[in-house]
Amino acid sequence: MSKKILVVHCSPRTNGNSSMLADEFIKGAAQAGNQVECIDVGCAHIAGCMACEYCFKHDGRCVQQDDMQQFYPLLREYDVLVWATPLYFYNFPAQLRAFQDRMFCQIGKPFTIKQTALLLCFEDSDMARAEPTVASYRVCADYCKLENLGEVLVNNVYEKGAIEGNPGLQAAFDLGASIS
Ligand SMILES: Cc1cc2nc3c(=O)[nH]c(=O)nc-3n(C[C@H](O)[C@H](O)[C@H](O)COP(=O)(O)O)c2cc1C
Repeated sequence: MSKKILVVHCSPRTNGNSSMLADEFIKGAAQAGNQVECIDVGCAHIAGCMACEYCFKHDGRCVQQDDMQQFYPLLREYDVLVWATPLYFYNFPAQLRAFQDRMFCQIGKPFTIKQTALLLCFEDSDMARAEPTVASYRVCADYCKLENLGEVLVNNVYEKGAIEGNPGLQAAFDLGASIS
């Protein structure tokens, strides 16, 4: 059975390395018959969660009227949530972290997303330096009761387009194609 897949791409750099990873994933997923949508949050204006608990008393609605409002409905529409992002200061970029924190109001709601995956690229030649970020992804997936479908990590890529020819692109395609 085909799935509805939401790719959350986060880089302010257009057509950069994480974007190319996302594109390959999307090609694979679409080829396998899935329905895929990609949203870009790299230039979105998303503030952090204020822990005001407004959502507790307002049916999961967030009081903050920023770009996150346009993304909330998607969290109730898709089966699979895929993060496609570079590493920034050994973590996810601030825009993506804000997106994640703001999902807080949706977790108790009927949450259609059941599976997740990670596409991550970065400059460092030491793959191990991404481990804390990957660990954070895994523990959040576990907390949200999402099955981890896989992780594609590409290191040694800094310049825009440096990922060209990297086997990580094929791995992203294959991960997408494995979803059904
Ligand atoms: C603000 C900023 C912070 C970064 N921090 C890291 C980092 O902590 N570790 C690392 O290996 N690369 C870091 N990088 C490099 C990016 O992860 C790398 O260039 C990546 O390929 C960019 O992906 P993109 O082309 O999709 O934007 C950083 C880049 C920027 C602009």
